[in-house]
Amino acid sequence: MEPGFRKFTAAIDQGTTSTRFFIFDERGEPVAKHQEEFEQIYPHSGWIEHDPFILIKSVENCIEAATAKFISAGYNTRDICGLGITNQRETAVVWDIRNGKVLYNAIVWADSRTAHIVRQLKLQDAEEKIFLKTGLPLSTYPSAVKVKWILEHSRAARDVYESGHLAFGTVDTWLLFNLAEGHSGEKLHVTDVTNASRTMFLDINTLEYDPFLTGFFGLEKLLLPKVTSSSNSKAYGFLAKGPLMGLKITGCLGDQSAALVGQKAFEQGMAKNTYGTGCFMLYNTGNQPVISKNGLLTTIAFQFEDSPPVYALEGSIAVAGSAVKFLRDNLGIIQEANEIGELAMLVPDSGGVVFVTAFAGLFAPYWVDDAQGTIFGITNYTKREHICRATIEATCFQTKAIMHAMEKDSGIAIKNLAVDGGMSNSNECMQLQADIIGIDVDRPAMRETTALGAAIAAGFGASVWTSFDELGQVNSRNHRKFNAQTTQIQRTKLFRQWERAVVMSRGWLT
Ligand code: G3P
Repeated sequence: MEPGFRKFTAAIDQGTTSTRFFIFDERGEPVAKHQEEFEQIYPHSGWIEHDPFILIKSVENCIEAATAKFISAGYNTRDICGLGITNQRETAVVWDIRNGKVLYNAIVWADSRTAHIVRQLKLQDAEEKIFLKTGLPLSTYPSAVKVKWILEHSRAARDVYESGHLAFGTVDTWLLFNLAEGHSGEKLHVTDVTNASRTMFLDINTLEYDPFLTGFFGLEKLLLPKVTSSSNSKAYGFLAKGPLMGLKITGCLGDQSAALVGQKAFEQGMAKNTYGTGCFMLYNTGNQPVISKNGLLTTIAFQFEDSPPVYALEGSIAVAGSAVKFLRDNLGIIQEANEIGELAMLVPDSGGVVFVTAFAGLFAPYWVDDAQGTIFGITNYTKREHICRATIEATCFQTKAIMHAMEKDSGIAIKNLAVDGGMSNSNECMQLQADIIGIDVDRPAMRETTALGAAIAAGFGASVWTSFDELGQVNSRNHRKFNAQTTQIQRTKLFRQWERAVVMSRGWLT
């Protein structure tokens, strides 16, 4: 077909354990894709790092392979109108702005090495002020504390910082610095509001960096990326290399924000739950931030060009897919991740086993930095099927706790849970989820929602779409609903058991 008749959008999805590249058609269907896993570096218990250059390489590989598939399917790369970037959030990279030299591995969002720094910071009595400004509790999770740790432990990073040349970025910023260039060929040091809202440097009310926050962490000289909207026709420049060189980058947002957009949860009161390495529920609260009283975060959901930001309440679970990976890679009790659901359903219940998968402390709604992964209730009767079931249930119970917190904060009962991400591919896991929360779980047929959200943001930046009404066809086919098969009494009994286990998993390190 002659170029110009089709309008494709592309998306880089740089996640915690793998990188993916997608090219979507006008109906939001992927026509070409490629995925690559990369190395997780675990130098000590609780530490997780990525090599920043391996992240770039994995993106380049995925773009190359998916573009080759796109071309061999008969499509024309000139019909790709815009590129969106979505990424693992909070993960912190620092480099010398003068030459791009990386000064430490990227410290990944789930890394808990900073627990002692957080304990000291909490003594300064600024926690509430910070929470009101950033929507985030002081914890090991946001980027700021990770950068502080790097400066306390790397002489090279400290020297560059003192000279005023230490650049910081979340992964979106790092990729843009290395793979893109601006309209005059300049290097870019830029991010979007959703990623910036996870750093603990940004005041989410003003959308500006706050000197109180950089001062609190002792990072006044850190070079922070320019903050812009999640869909933007000018700020993100062009791809500077590879088979799609010259392609305009018109969208950028954190992966959980992208999933919310991909689920088309544009209106206040809409929510989604994404099961990835971790699991994250976002609840759209409209143009006003709602500060949680029940252990949730307040975050910027997305901001389209020339529009006010949309906020969300977020329930973040640190461990979901990574627990399945743990059963496969560390314990060897499954060979493939997708076996877990079937095995879990071979037993009628977990046989009394409760697995608190607190590998990096517990996030929402508990926020316990020193909780440790703990399995309760093992007896001679316990089989691997019970462990598999308890592993899935851990994510499902935390989802239930987060839903309760959201209902309390918003005053509105959630009637339907829209899901996506790896674990949502398993019918068994989603049935268990419905059984545990007691409401319907709603799963779209096209579950590459994160990448789709980035492509939608890019499509708006490239004028493929100009209003949300035009997205009617996108991601709307064949939803499947899972209905709860349990009674209220059963649900309450199991959830109480989980909550007791959570209490007992605390304080192991102290
Ligand atoms: O906040 C961390 C989150 O962005 C990571 O997402 O999909 O890699 O679990 P995921």
